[in-house]
Amino acid sequence: MVDTQAGRFNEDYWEFFSKWIAPALVPNAKALDMGTGPGGWLTMMKARYPEVGVCGVELVPVMLETARLTGAEIGAEVVAADLSSDEWSASIDGTFEVGHCSMVLHELPNPFSLLKNAAKLIRPGGRLFIFDWCRHSFADYLARKEEEPPLDEDTFQHFSEHARFSPDDVTLLAERAGFREIARQHRDVAHVMLAYQRKGG
Ligand SMILES: C[S@@+](CC[C@H](N)C(=O)[O-])C[C@H]1O[C@@H](n2cnc3c(N)ncnc32)[C@H](O)[C@@H]1O
Repeated sequence: MVDTQAGRFNEDYWEFFSKWIAPALVPNAKALDMGTGPGGWLTMMKARYPEVGVCGVELVPVMLETARLTGAEIGAEVVAADLSSDEWSASIDGTFEVGHCSMVLHELPNPFSLLKNAAKLIRPGGRLFIFDWCRHSFADYLARKEEEPPLDEDTFQHFSEHARFSPDDVTLLAERAGFREIARQHRDVAHVMLAYQRKGG
């Protein structure tokens, strides 16, 4: 994950971020990274926007441990919570101007729980950035591999996770949770960046 983060959070990513997400970063703004992994995004955010308070949420102990070390170095809070649970936002203090979620939604048993709780934490008018895998054909899935994988259970399981939601599916869930889509950009056939505004602002 650390090895791939420079490619994931590349110039296209930050261009999209600065156009559609950064306008919500008012003075004293706070940003919440849901499923922060080892906390790479927290570090990059602090480097680009030193005035913004950043907080990461993570569940898996080995990731949490690394994210907490990262957080201690850069002054970021890291909270343990299950983003697929019904009331995870109750363990987070305060409200946020920006929510961010990269390569997480497709992994969750209940992605609506993430979005519904994010809507409780992001203030009206605030922004939400969802960056994830999106639905693509099996032919495209195979074409992206350096070597064709065996056509076994693992491959089909992996394909069903990575090609699970279309961008419209994510927007349907985000709309129901209280967000309005303001921009989308495909990074490639299998990845999409989506920007939302919290309704009511
Ligand atoms: C593919 S990694 C992406 C990490 C990071 N967002 C990035 O883009 O570099 C997915 C992360 O989501 C976390 N995750 C998966 N399910 C979760 C859950 N139910 N609650 C909290 N975190 C979860 C995983 O532990 C992992 O760190």
